[in-house]
Amino acid sequence: MVTVKSHEKFNGVYWVASDEGEKILATKNLAPGIQVYGERLFKVKGDEYRAWNPYRSKLSAAIWNKINEIYLASGSKVLYLGTATGTTASHVSDIIGNEGVLYGVDFAPRVMIQFKQNVAQHRRNIIPIFADARKPREYAHIVGKVDLIYCDVAQPEQAKILVDNALLTLKSGGHGMIAVKARSIDSVEDPEVVYKREIRILEENSFKILEVVNLEPYEKDHVLVVAEY
Ligand SMILES: C[S@@+](CC[C@H](N)C(=O)[O-])C[C@H]1O[C@@H](n2cnc3c(N)ncnc32)[C@H](O)[C@@H]1O
Repeated sequence: MVTVKSHEKFNGVYWVASDEGEKILATKNLAPGIQVYGERLFKVKGDEYRAWNPYRSKLSAAIWNKINEIYLASGSKVLYLGTATGTTASHVSDIIGNEGVLYGVDFAPRVMIQFKQNVAQHRRNIIPIFADARKPREYAHIVGKVDLIYCDVAQPEQAKILVDNALLTLKSGGHGMIAVKARSIDSVEDPEVVYKREIRILEENSFKILEVVNLEPYEKDHVLVVAEY
């Protein structure tokens, strides 16, 4: 029998125990019956849960690796930079529920079409924004003020992108997260040197670093940096 229990720390996050006794991280599906990336769905007592794969989502990997806080709750407002086709964004949408809002930014046209058709269309808490995250002035008026900026654009200057977006859209006392793939910024440098430089940029721009979560073995050379504004 499949059973579900709440995550010990995070509201809106669950542990599903499958028939085979496997322990699976999950969120409650806000769009029942609809899969976003082929994830397993589990029906338990009238609710549907979606497996949240740590090999596909860095935030899931961070939860598996015991991140202290995710700064997401029912009703949170989130600016999500680099939604891609919505794998992680869809789980964030599940957690914040219909009281919350996720503004999802990506600049790749095909990815944005898929995100709109497969994810945003089925969820009324997602507002897709086809834009370049390096130019927050172009969309800040749509976003207003948010509680959390999640930045996973796999680009150099992620810290700068977070800082520029925070200036226009992040509440004071709000939080920022960046997924830093150290080697995508400069492939010859030691990964640790690279992400420490990103951290310094945040610290010089009104962020206090709260934690740095290593995402191995799910994501090689990746850390998730969590900071307060
Ligand atoms: C690693 S993927 C994001 C994966 C996604 N966060 C997830 O966990 O499901 C990076 C995405 O960032 C987008 N991206 C890169 N640079 C960007 C920019 N300057 N503005 C907006 N999107 C950008 C890419 O198009 C790509 O879809």
